Amino acid sequence: MVLFVNACVRGESRTKHLAETLLEMIADNYEEIRLEDVKFPKTDEAFLKNRDNLMAEERFDDESFAMARQFAAADTIVIAAPYWDLSFPASLKQYIEHINVLGVTFEYTTEGVPKGLCKADKLYYIMTAGGNYVPEEFGFGYIKALAQNFYGISEVELIKATGLDIYGADVNNILSAEIKRIQNLIKR
Ligand SMILES: Cc1cc2nc3c(=O)[nH]c(=O)nc-3n(C[C@H](O)[C@H](O)[C@H](O)COP(=O)(O)O)c2cc1C
Repeated sequence: MVLFVNACVRGESRTKHLAETLLEMIADNYEEIRLEDVKFPKTDEAFLKNRDNLMAEERFDDESFAMARQFAAADTIVIAAPYWDLSFPASLKQYIEHINVLGVTFEYTTEGVPKGLCKADKLYYIMTAGGNYVPEEFGFGYIKALAQNFYGISEVELIKATGLDIYGADVNNILSAEIKRIQNLIKR
């Protein structure tokens, strides 16, 4: 199963366009979770207490862990997120808070090192940015660290198009160049 985690917001999202182009190439069908449509409960103390109780009782079939189970069961994961404020939309962080469930997506070894429980062997991270100052550490770098160290997904691929909002930018050209790169990547 291919899971598409869609953190795009705008109807005309360029990030979504790149993601859908990739999805067409790698999957006949996929499950999509559109983060704009998810009403995440607040991760407050009551939420944490309830979650701790469920985890202590190993009630991982609880409805509140459905997103975590879906993530853990996917064979390939595609995350699409526009570059916002050197990072990504808050909805993606909310999603991460909800899928990082000890006993579902990861566990700890006796030495305190996280160990992945996810089935996927590949995660694609797709982003577009308005400018060209796009350091990786708070967006892609963070997701890559989670994928490789928490979820156990070793292969992480970045697909990105930047400089889209610079005055005079040839947006179609920039996107086409990245789509060509994706095509070559998939052919390999
Ligand atoms: C709330 C917000 C924050 C943004 N922050 C940045 C930023 O830090 N750096 C940057 O280069 N572009 C930034 N942008 C521009 C977007 O990255 C750019 O327009 C991107 O292509 C939007 O993706 P979309 O077409 O998928 O919506 C921001 C846009 C918005 C709406």
